[in-house]
Amino acid sequence: MWYILYTLIFLHETCICITEGRYLLETKYIEVPVDHFSASPKPRFFKLRYLLNDKYHVKGGPAFVYTGNEGDISMYAQNTGFLFDIAPIFNALLVFIEHRYYGVSLPFGNDSFASSDNLRYLTTTQALADFAYTIEALRRTFFGDVLSYDTYPFVAFGGSYGGMLAAWLRMKYPYEVVGAVASSAPIFHFPGLTVGCAAFNAQITRVFRRYGGERCVRTVELGWDAVLNLSRTKLGMDFISSSWKLCKPLKTAEDVRRLLDWLGSVYENLSMFNYHYPADFVAPLPAYPVKIFCDKLTTAYFNDTKGLIDRFATALAIYTNYTGKRSCNNVNGSYEEPAEIAWSYQTCVELAMPKCSLEGDMFPTKSWSYEGHSEACYERFGVRGLGRDWPAMAYGGKNLRHYSNLVFSNGLMDPWSVGGVFSNVSSTVLAFNITDGPHHVDFRRADPADNNYVIEARRFHVRIIKQWLNMV
Ligand SMILES: *[C@@H]1O[C@H](CO)[C@@H](O)[C@H](O)[C@H]1NC(C)=O
Ligand SMILES: *[C@@H]1O[C@H](CO)[C@@H](O)[C@H](O)[C@H]1NC(C)=O
Ligand SMILES: *[C@@H]1O[C@H](CO)[C@@H](O)[C@H](O)[C@H]1NC(C)=O
Ligand SMILES: *[C@@H]1O[C@H](CO)[C@@H](O)[C@H](O)[C@H]1NC(C)=O
Ligand SMILES: *[C@@H]1O[C@H](CO)[C@@H](O)[C@H](O)[C@H]1NC(C)=O
Ligand SMILES: *[C@@H]1O[C@H](CO)[C@@H](O)[C@H](O)[C@H]1NC(C)=O
Ligand SMILES: *[C@@H]1O[C@H](CO)[C@@H](O)[C@H](O)[C@H]1NC(C)=O
Ligand SMILES: *[C@@H]1O[C@H](CO)[C@@H](O)[C@H](O)[C@H]1NC(C)=O
Repeated sequence: MWYILYTLIFLHETCICITEGRYLLETKYIEVPVDHFSASPKPRFFKLRYLLNDKYHVKGGPAFVYTGNEGDISMYAQNTGFLFDIAPIFNALLVFIEHRYYGVSLPFGNDSFASSDNLRYLTTTQALADFAYTIEALRRTFFGDVLSYDTYPFVAFGGSYGGMLAAWLRMKYPYEVVGAVASSAPIFHFPGLTVGCAAFNAQITRVFRRYGGERCVRTVELGWDAVLNLSRTKLGMDFISSSWKLCKPLKTAEDVRRLLDWLGSVYENLSMFNYHYPADFVAPLPAYPVKIFCDKLTTAYFNDTKGLIDRFATALAIYTNYTGKRSCNNVNGSYEEPAEIAWSYQTCVELAMPKCSLEGDMFPTKSWSYEGHSEACYERFGVRGLGRDWPAMAYGGKNLRHYSNLVFSNGLMDPWSVGGVFSNVSSTVLAFNITDGPHHVDFRRADPADNNYVIEARRFHVRIIKQWLNMV
């Protein structure tokens, strides 16, 4: 009731509000330079979007800034209930800043992805400068530029790639944010740092084994074979297309390759979003979707390829069609989506995160090399990346002891945790393990189904943030 009332009052204000989803946020834009780092006779600016909630803000309270990820910022805002939960404790203003080239924050409008020339301002360095630029502007708007930075501090938050950015923001602009809480941020997942390319898929396999059992892992392994075996003939391809309700029937080997990529992406997402309650982040899913997926596979016979494909169809629907509203599966579509192009470009130019599969995990064996990755990137975008050692050089690699006021939390059942920070580095650069936790589960709102591990993680964050803000 209170919620409905609030909606009505809010809608009559002058702001443009997001009414979809649980949390109400005001949509704002700020003009930022397309290029923060070089002068030109006619500097270009573009509109960067940010979302604001001042419901809990009391003059003197801090600002909590979420550094946006590789997607529409409203999705991340709606799935970061933790900030709304703790804002009242701190009287905090909440700000979610969109990452350039995602959502509606497009430097060249619809042409942003049209050429590598237009894509060249898509770097983490430019994105971090956007965040700092926006924080400076907010400081003037909300707090007045006469006030000292320390009196009205900003704290950075981020999950996943957004978590990497939150940590990097603190590292690069320590005077802008007093600290950063980075959840599920794989800042070590780069060539030359600790993580081997096999770790990621091995971890997905571990999640499936943990929640679905050895038989599920074995069945998933056979699934790849079943697809490959059947797609050797046109009849077989038609069988899969119809069983899996593909929007466009498989025709070529390239189509099959894309189908297999899609399948891998489904497994990755099931394990990342294996939350302990139903959630709608990226896709609507039931509680423990990995377990439900695996339960659907238990009646599969290994000796019956077509039967296996049909069992998979039922299991996959957990991910693709939980709401029952999907008419067909587009396994091909994401290749042309702006966010997919932007993220691929980023992995090509800066963020080459190695992934391969070895014997023993549930994926078909696949190798990875920086050179191969770089070559594929050159083919797709016509540019060479900044080099395999660039991220480590830009952001300190494993030398985190030079920094301060950072918290890295990782769910130990998250595939991305393999590239995360697992141990305390110093008295102010801290790590927090969340036993059984999937992807940035601590940044979701409190839920009655939460276990003690995630509750402890959130308590930990609150305690450390209080220290940063001199509240204890
Ligand atoms: C960009 O594309 C979208 C969707 O195709 C369209 O609605 C919008 O009008 C376009 N904007 C411009 C500035 O061309
Ligand atoms: C695929 O074909 C190979 C070789 O014919 C066979 O050994 C294997 O059992 C088949 N796998 C499935 C899942 O049908
Ligand atoms: C996938 O997309 C490519 C172009 O991007 C197209 O050539 C191919 O036919 C599509 N395949 C399917 C199965 O939709
Ligand atoms: C998996 O999630 C990512 C976002 O993390 C999304 O881009 C991708 O399309 C998803 N894959 C599938 C098959 O839905
Ligand atoms: C497959 O195995 C099941 C159970 O082991 C058996 O009942 C069935 O007859 C087998 N089917 C074929 C085609 O071999
Ligand atoms: C999704 O579920 C609905 C309802 O059960 C069904 O009619 C539809 O065919 C399903 N679509 C896919 C792609 O599985
Ligand atoms: C890091 O230190 C804190 C105490 O400040 C402790 O609670 C936490 O468990 C430690 N993290 C790890 C991963 O050891
Ligand atoms: C945190 O998790 C990592 C990875 O599983 C493990 O190596 C480390 O010992 C854990 N630390 C604590 C304090 O639980």
